[in-house]
Amino acid sequence: MNLLIMGPPGGGKGTQAEVIVKELGITHISTGDMFREAVKAGTEMGKKAKEYMDKGALVPDEVVVGMVKDRLSQPDCAKGFLLDGFPRTVAQAEALDATLKEMGIKLDAVINIAVPREKIVQRLTGRRVCRQCGATYHILYKKPQVEGKCDKCGGELYQRSDDTEATVNERLDVYEAQTQPLIEYYSKQGLIKNINGDQDISKVSEDILAALK
Ligand code: AP5
Ligand code: MG
Ligand code: ZN
Repeated sequence: MNLLIMGPPGGGKGTQAEVIVKELGITHISTGDMFREAVKAGTEMGKKAKEYMDKGALVPDEVVVGMVKDRLSQPDCAKGFLLDGFPRTVAQAEALDATLKEMGIKLDAVINIAVPREKIVQRLTGRRVCRQCGATYHILYKKPQVEGKCDKCGGELYQRSDDTEATVNERLDVYEAQTQPLIEYYSKQGLIKNINGDQDISKVSEDILAALK
């Protein structure tokens, strides 16, 4: 299956992606994770991307589109993929449609997770991420077994530099202005599966997998 997962910052895209790709045996492609890896590696692209990310702004379309196009052409995407955090603008969605057409493949569904804005700040300021494997935790809602350590690999947990209250609010404004219009874009294509993201993590996973059946 070729899937997209959409939703506001902190909506649970990454958390649910971990479950979906395991269940369906497909490849997870998170543009946010790819940028964070580039930042960590200290590449030119990473340095540029960090400026936008720390402000809560979007990295320019041409940078993101080129990066995703390269990624989709890699062999592990042939078994199916889940795009997380891309597309985020109508221009990116149009570029993705063109790329998929060139590749002779189609999207099967777009998972749209909805969470009320007032719940998001608490989710993001309490998020912790594994420095080694990228697994996501929360200090209240998804606690690791040992504080500060990843259950899966023992890696150190850290707080993302864009998870401050001020940046979160900026990211939410950017989401509402630039990304929300994609719900209509994909509704017109008959692909949207609306999911209530304001429930327990395991219930959200159940609803997503049921919607994909
Ligand atoms: P990106 O990394 O994609 O960030 P985002 O969209 O802001 O989304 P998050 O990763 O913050 O949230 P999530 O929905 O994955 O939530 P999570 O599962 O972690 O992008 C970062 C930046 O990169 C952007 O701001 C931009 O600058 C740039 N960028 C990336 N893609 C781009 C693009 N296409 N174009 C341009 N720029 C781009 O969950 C959050 C927390 O809540 C966790 O702690 C989790 O444990 C907890 N949680 C999850 N589900 C639940 C639940 N049901 N109940 C309670 N807690 C929950
Ligand atoms: Mg994420
Ligand atoms: Zn880990």
